Amino acid sequence: MSSAARPSVPRPPGKDRLVSSAFGAVDRPYKEASTLPGWMFSDPALYAEELRRMFHRTWTCIGRDDEVAGPGGFRTVDVGGSGVLVVRDKDGVLRAFHNVCRHRGTRLVEENAGMGLSNIQCPYHAWTYDLTGQLRGAPHMTGVANFDKRDYGLHPVALETWRGFLWVNLDPNPAPLSEHLGALVERARPFPLERLRLAHRVVYEIAANWKLVVENANECYHCPGVHPQLVKITPYTSGEEDIHRGPIFGGWMDMVDGAETLTATGKSDRKRFPALSAEDLRRVYYYVLFPANFIALSTDYVTMDWFQPLGPDRTRLVFDMYVDRDEPDPATDAMDFWEQTNRQDWHICEMAHLGSKTIGYDQGRYSNQEDTVHAVDRYYLHRMGFVGEPHE
Ligand code: FES
Ligand SMILES: [Fe+2]
Repeated sequence: MSSAARPSVPRPPGKDRLVSSAFGAVDRPYKEASTLPGWMFSDPALYAEELRRMFHRTWTCIGRDDEVAGPGGFRTVDVGGSGVLVVRDKDGVLRAFHNVCRHRGTRLVEENAGMGLSNIQCPYHAWTYDLTGQLRGAPHMTGVANFDKRDYGLHPVALETWRGFLWVNLDPNPAPLSEHLGALVERARPFPLERLRLAHRVVYEIAANWKLVVENANECYHCPGVHPQLVKITPYTSGEEDIHRGPIFGGWMDMVDGAETLTATGKSDRKRFPALSAEDLRRVYYYVLFPANFIALSTDYVTMDWFQPLGPDRTRLVFDMYVDRDEPDPATDAMDFWEQTNRQDWHICEMAHLGSKTIGYDQGRYSNQEDTVHAVDRYYLHRMGFVGEPHE
């Protein structure tokens, strides 16, 4: 696809020198660094560039491959403000396309999900595509100069799966998904990801910039004040970071003696995942898959967050909870625990958003509990092209 000329780097007018010194203050060794400047959490031009430079060029986990079950099954999702249509074609092959007609750009499929699609017909002037994206019918196009239906198939979107998780990438030439996942592949190996079934999906809308939500997921400095019930099971200073090579950042927290899983009681009626080591059985692992996802691996359930930026001031978050497909327990206890924890998080993110975007905030400092936030912020500046490659 061609793209018209766009502005290269968004900068508040007349503030270039101030802006680059603010980036330089973040791009320093952790103990010397300052936090992201406040304007970055509400600037509309920066937000547009974040979509273009990151969300349109990254692997995004949108759920599971079995959500598009059988030939003709489909889903539509929003990725960085662009509509994506995922279909299973007649041969059972999963495919993804821009959900956009090649005639005059109309959104093709409105429903969120469904079955039995035999072709994709535009609701406007009835151009019709097959499930491989080829344009098959285009009324009244005879005599149109240089028009060949073969040139007007749906624009494809890259799609890959990883152990049942379904990923799309709007980059026309993406690096393989395995590169995005990096060391997470090995860390997640004992967890039976291909056997998971969706137990709960909750969609939240948060009145905060997406970066505040991602930053919040990468520290437990806030846990004593914000999550009194969480710190009873996983003390906030416990654990270690073990992956800090962008785009994956994170590590684990240790459960207190006697706790077997992360719920309000530390117990559950579910079986522990069978291949976990003695160490794994005492831990909860958390990793951000920057910028769009966050995975948590507990001893008997797995959660995946999908951050969907809706604007500089708004983030939609799809929270999925998975258990083993043969597990009869509905994981209501774990979902109740996370519903409470999530609400606490979104509220504090909204409060952080309200303050950080005002003229009363410029740039703060990282505590000694926020090394991962610093690493993520620095990686963000690098991905945006504002600073060079982060060094460890
Ligand atoms: S916009 Fe789709 S057929 Fe006209
Ligand atoms: Fe939190």
